Amino acid sequence: MNIAVYPGSFDPCTNGHLDIIKRVSAIFDKVIVAVLCNSGKTPLFSVEERVEILKKATSDIPNIEIVSFSGLLVDFLKENNAKIVIKGLRAVSDFEYEFQMALTNRKLCDNVETLFISASTEYMFLSSSIVKEIASYNGDLSGLVPDELIPIIKSRFGFVNN
Ligand code: PNS
Repeated sequence: MNIAVYPGSFDPCTNGHLDIIKRVSAIFDKVIVAVLCNSGKTPLFSVEERVEILKKATSDIPNIEIVSFSGLLVDFLKENNAKIVIKGLRAVSDFEYEFQMALTNRKLCDNVETLFISASTEYMFLSSSIVKEIASYNGDLSGLVPDELIPIIKSRFGFVNN
């Protein structure tokens, strides 16, 4: 079985992430979305909330599993018998950091392959940070995240409208 792991913080997941998840799930037998439980950062959503949000947003995709992980990605891959890491690229500026991570993961475990998939043009600019920036000013999030997520994100910034 060809298993791909799509790791990330997903704080929160955006329509760009969901687009990558849909496209990748059509290629692999199974896709594991691995949500980083990052103790260093203070996330907007807890890891449990991020997993729950992703589960709801991907409930129509059968061959997908959403789980949290901590520690090294290569250890998570081994535990799940997976060798393929999926990374989305929006712009050349993403490449340098992603290339460094891909090579680091290869150094740590030599049978890991990172596959880069380009973001769809409509989501080239989109990131979780951009979503949080807009939300912090009560700006319009439509088209950037799933509609049902908008009030939840806004409420984290103290706004009660949608
Ligand atoms: O969405 P993000 O924050 O860009 O995702 C980053 C992520 C989770 C892919 C990366 O931080 C990661 O793999 N963390 C696990 C720790 C690890 O394995 N580090 C070594 C690779 S540099």
